[in-house]
Amino acid sequence: MNVLGIETSCDETGIAVYAGGRGLLAHRVYSQTDIHLEYGGVVPELASRDHIRKTLPLIRGVLAEAALGSSDIDGIAYTSGPGLVGALLVGAAIGRTLAWAWGVPAVGVHHMEGHLLAPLLEREVPEFPFVALLVSGGHTQLVAVEGVGRYRLLGESLDDAAGEAFDKTAKLMGLPYPGGPELAKLAEKGDPGRFRFPRPMTDRPGLDFSFSGLKTFALNTLNSELKRVRGVEAVARLKADIARAFEDAVVDTLVIKCRRAVRESGSRRLILAGGVSANRRLRERISVAMESEGGRAYYPRPELCTDNGAMIAFAGWQRLKAGQSEPLKFGVRPRWPMEELPGV
Ligand code: KG4
Ligand code: ZN
Repeated sequence: MNVLGIETSCDETGIAVYAGGRGLLAHRVYSQTDIHLEYGGVVPELASRDHIRKTLPLIRGVLAEAALGSSDIDGIAYTSGPGLVGALLVGAAIGRTLAWAWGVPAVGVHHMEGHLLAPLLEREVPEFPFVALLVSGGHTQLVAVEGVGRYRLLGESLDDAAGEAFDKTAKLMGLPYPGGPELAKLAEKGDPGRFRFPRPMTDRPGLDFSFSGLKTFALNTLNSELKRVRGVEAVARLKADIARAFEDAVVDTLVIKCRRAVRESGSRRLILAGGVSANRRLRERISVAMESEGGRAYYPRPELCTDNGAMIAFAGWQRLKAGQSEPLKFGVRPRWPMEELPGV
């Protein structure tokens, strides 16, 4: 079964074809970074308009790369939430319409389920059950995963998501959008010994997170140090050291909670997914931590950590092959708890 995947929930247009039994045939992502750069963040209306421009040409390109015609597509999966409502509606309208025109079933996919299943696109896949750490721009969640669609939320962020904390901290340090990867790049040059930021909510039991205080901590550190530090080079070093302290605090906090989650769940397998799972230090630290727990960490290749169509095609394939599809109408859900999904 060849499934066309369409992702348009935020600022990336992602298109892919996943073939059951063969794997990923082609995938392309168009990032709108240049469009939103001058505004310092995603402008929803501009995002929707650009998805309209890019989706069909990308679909043509992906089909050509996979050497498939429209008659080779057996089903269409599009992201139907959570995300920006206008952006979601573009992918949903195009996906549902093509499915109708081509006479194939369509299925609306939960964006976070897409992220969660992305590690299963790699060669070595974890067996169920496992624990998932989902770290994206909108969500930070620890989930016990029994199977596809069988999810139990163990903990989540009570305020900013990890990616959001990266983005906001980057912005107040004067880094360009999208801040997360820029801050991570700056942190590479930072001295880990200069500042130590708190590890929020690790001194009490539970698996919830709170990251919003860390950006204030970064801002206060920056402002108080700027009173003493002079010179372009010294200020650049200061910012790199703050970036490193911030990254270490987020990574440490995530690692501590992941250890707790695997101990509590009894599963020794942990998957890492969502945009922040592209972070090099997080990947390394989680791998080491899981090995010392006698288990193993799994994560997608970096290009499948951030938003993409491959994860939507794959999650859609899982549901279509289980016989799930949508009637001839479509809707999107800007907010959507993953626990409401049916099992397959
Ligand atoms: O999953 P994703 O592409 O979109 C959402 O579903 O939100 O995640 C985007 C988030 C952004 O907040 C971005 O700054 C963050 O992932 N991110 C990173 C890195 N790459 C992307 N954060 C830290 N280090 C990175 N290398
Ligand atoms: Zn995402």
